[in-house]
Amino acid sequence: MENPKGGREFRRTNTMKRIAFLLFAVVAVAGVVVHMAHASGHAEGEAAPIFGIKIPPGYRDWKLISVAHEEGDLNDIRAILGNDTAIRAYREEKLPFPDGTIIARIAWSYVPSEENNKVFGRPQSFVPGPAPDWYLQLMVKDSKKYAATGGWGFAQFNKEGKPTDEAKLKTCFPCHEPVKARDFVFTRYTP
Ligand code: HEC
Repeated sequence: MENPKGGREFRRTNTMKRIAFLLFAVVAVAGVVVHMAHASGHAEGEAAPIFGIKIPPGYRDWKLISVAHEEGDLNDIRAILGNDTAIRAYREEKLPFPDGTIIARIAWSYVPSEENNKVFGRPQSFVPGPAPDWYLQLMVKDSKKYAATGGWGFAQFNKEGKPTDEAKLKTCFPCHEPVKARDFVFTRYTP
């Protein structure tokens, strides 16, 4: 004959075991999530002088605002990328850009592609070559922290992740002043 008390005991320990297992699983998953957030959410490397900006993690995966080509000394091709805050402001045509906006400009040299030209049967293809020294420029919006420079912090990094010097960073804002009416940003969104 079944002992009703023993049955209840059995069920109770079984339930407790399940709860313990669930708790363990939740803690384990939370641990992984925290670890991942740590791995992807922290800016690494040296901070740029004056503005204290580091290379933002994951910037290479941001959405495209536009592209451009510079001749002269720079002679590069470049992509201008924005974080989600930047893209939202651009698409909603919101000015000034809200705090938290980051705009990144990545540059590459460009070289003829023999491989592509063979297919075309004539020289016409250029593709990105090695990145120039100062391949990455950033503009970070924080209207309070960077009030003296239109609310923008400026940074520039080389391929080794080293920030540019203070003297160079002092030239950024004055040259962006002509586009004050567009919140000091030259690049227009290219749909
Ligand atoms: C000689 C003037 C000049 C200087 C100095 C200058 N910029 Fe710019 N910057 C421009 C112009 C013009 C563009 C747009 C270029 C294009 O799209 O062809 C631009 C574009 C940018 C962009 C893309 C967003 C935008 O405004 O279009 C970033 C980011 C940027 N500059 C950061 C910097 C940083 C950081 C520095 C300092 C290290 C700097 N710039 C110095 C003139 C300048």
